This record gives sequence, structure tokens and C-alpha cells, in this order.
Amino acid sequence: MKLRFSLKYTVSVLAASASCAIAGQAFAADAAPVGNVQNARDKVSMCIGCHGIEGYKATFPELYHVPMIAGQNAKYIETALNEYKKGARSHPTMDAIAGSLSDQDIADLAAYYSNLK
Ligand code: HEC
Repeated sequence: MKLRFSLKYTVSVLAASASCAIAGQAFAADAAPVGNVQNARDKVSMCIGCHGIEGYKATFPELYHVPMIAGQNAKYIETALNEYKKGARSHPTMDAIAGSLSDQDIADLAAYYSNLK
């Protein structure tokens, strides 16, 4: 009798925490990540070889036209990275790089580059 009671209790606690986790996830998916400039500082090492940090410096002018992203609108950078990530836009290197970025990475990088002058 006692065993049955505690089993039932455990099940309802599990069910409650499971529905909490689902609700939490839905919330996280809805809320767009907020970019953090400080957190982007250790991520830009992936970008600076091509998109120069201090203004615009094309590392391979003979091979690529590398667009200037410093000072661009954050929304613009975010959209471009998401397009590479999802395949709506295509460029071999940018596809690979954007594909490895999380939504939070993209938001951080967009915040960082939009704040560069
Ligand atoms: C190997 C060189 C290279 C690296 C590394 C690189 N990019 Fe790019 N990036 C390019 C080139 C070339 C383009 C233009 C591609 C095209 O024409 O679609 C581009 C395009 C972009 C665009 C679109 C700009 C526009 O005006 O449309 C954004 C945003 C961008 N890169 C951000 C980044 C970020 C952030 C990183 C680091 C996480 C990064 N890139 C790393 C070469 C690079």
C-alpha cells in the first residue's frame, strides 16, 4: 500500500517536471537570442582572416570579394549568417562557418560587428 502511493507520487512529479521542461524549451525557441559583444570576442577569430577586424581588409583580394561587415546593421549580419546556415544563400566558406554557429553565436557576432566602426 505504502509502495503504491510513493510510486504514484514519483510518476506525477516526473510528469510535472517533464511538462515544465517542454514549456521552457518552447519559450527558449520563441525568444530571439540577445547578442553579447563581450562573448563574441573569442568567436571572431574565425572571421578576422577574411573580414578584417579594423575596418575592411580583404585578405585574398585576388580570390574573393570579401564584403565589409564592420559597422553593418546587426539584423543584416544576422540574416546573412542565417541564410548561409540554412542554404538560402551560398558560398563555400561562409556555408561551412555559418553552419557551425549557434543562434547565440550569430547574435553575438552580429552585435560585435555592428558595433565596430
Ligand atoms: C575564408 C574567408 C571567410 C571567413 C573565414 C569568413 N567569411 Fe564571411 N564572407 C566571406 C566571403 C567571400 C563573403 C561573400 C560571399 C558571397 O558572395 O555570398 C562573406 C560574406 C559574409 C557575410 C554577408 C555580408 C554581406 O554584405 O552580404 C557576413 C555577414 C559574413 N560573411 C560574416 C562572417 C562571420 C561572422 C565570420 C566568422 C564567424 C565570417 N564571415 C568568416 C569570406 C569569409
